[in-house]
Amino acid sequence: MNQAQDSHKGGRWSVAKVPSNIALLKYWGKKDESTQWPANDSLSMTLEHALTVTKARPLAGIDQATAQPPLDQVTIGGRTLSSLSDSGHKALAHLRRLRELTGFKSLLEVESSNTFPSECGIASSASGLGALTLAALGAWTGSKNLGELEANGYCRNRLAQLARLGSGSACRSFWGGFVAWEAGPQGDRQRVYPVAVDLDFKLADLIVVLSKQPKGLSSTEGHRSAWTSPLFAPRLASHRSRYQQMQQALKKRDLESMGAIMEVEALEMHSVMMTAQPPARYWTDETSPLITWIREERLAGRLPAWFTIDAGPNVHVICDLKDAPNVMAKIRARYQNLAQEHPNSRYDGVEIIQDQTGHGPFLGVE
Ligand code: PMV
Repeated sequence: MNQAQDSHKGGRWSVAKVPSNIALLKYWGKKDESTQWPANDSLSMTLEHALTVTKARPLAGIDQATAQPPLDQVTIGGRTLSSLSDSGHKALAHLRRLRELTGFKSLLEVESSNTFPSECGIASSASGLGALTLAALGAWTGSKNLGELEANGYCRNRLAQLARLGSGSACRSFWGGFVAWEAGPQGDRQRVYPVAVDLDFKLADLIVVLSKQPKGLSSTEGHRSAWTSPLFAPRLASHRSRYQQMQQALKKRDLESMGAIMEVEALEMHSVMMTAQPPARYWTDETSPLITWIREERLAGRLPAWFTIDAGPNVHVICDLKDAPNVMAKIRARYQNLAQEHPNSRYDGVEIIQDQTGHGPFLGVE
């Protein structure tokens, strides 16, 4: 297909559903911003229910050269994005970058929404920028599904490499199951691939939402400041062996080893954040008591679960899918007891989002 001639304008929507992912080994810090070259390898689990649903179609008769003002029209959750807001700037810049890299010309009309609260430690930028990439390429090529999109030159790997330019963690949302992202020897030799694990190895991610407040420091600034932490160089020095241990534990379906590694990893990333300049503390007052409780209950043999935390206060409780009802009931009971002891406190109505290992992205039309 001649990429300068987009296949159809206006009319049908290209619809992308891209899941979020939870990093078991975290991407934090970049060696190079222009190529989005991560400082270390990371590994994540794709989620099933936490999705961004994004529709895109070319704006009829308008291309980048002729548009006044030269902007795509993007709405998120019903709100039209301004290029002045953080998420607006990110989305519009990503569409411009995609046009430059692919040769497509049309401006797009885009509508996007999340099935989960955004900007609070559930990686909305991963699913958001992933879905924007997929919907845009679907719209520009006129592909009706992922198979057609691949035939039109955009396999998952290419999509992942494009998506990570908008948000690094987005590249890990292009496959189901567990996905590895390796930094490689150069910024343009990164690798993203699904880790081969039995399809029936499914974990639950019970996301304890302690706060829905937007985070204080954006991940863009956080990646930058990581290098100022005295803990960052030692982290990078030992991270490769942690990555290999995680890969082995995952292939053996050894959740206990995976859990031990993922907890150290989350605590180390947050230690880097808290000791960087400027320091970032994403936790609320309830984050620390919750992770202490998880560890105590596990040690006492009552809770077969482990935690991880992204750039936010909310705690992802990871356990075997078959243990999820029991773990869920225990977490709920903890907050009910705390709420009874402290009426009208922050313990009232703590939301727990239930998710699990997911299937990966979807592309269709409507
Ligand atoms: O993709 P970004 O730039 O939003 O960074 C994501 C960073 C973490 O969510 C904290 C960790 C990760 O690997 O997803």
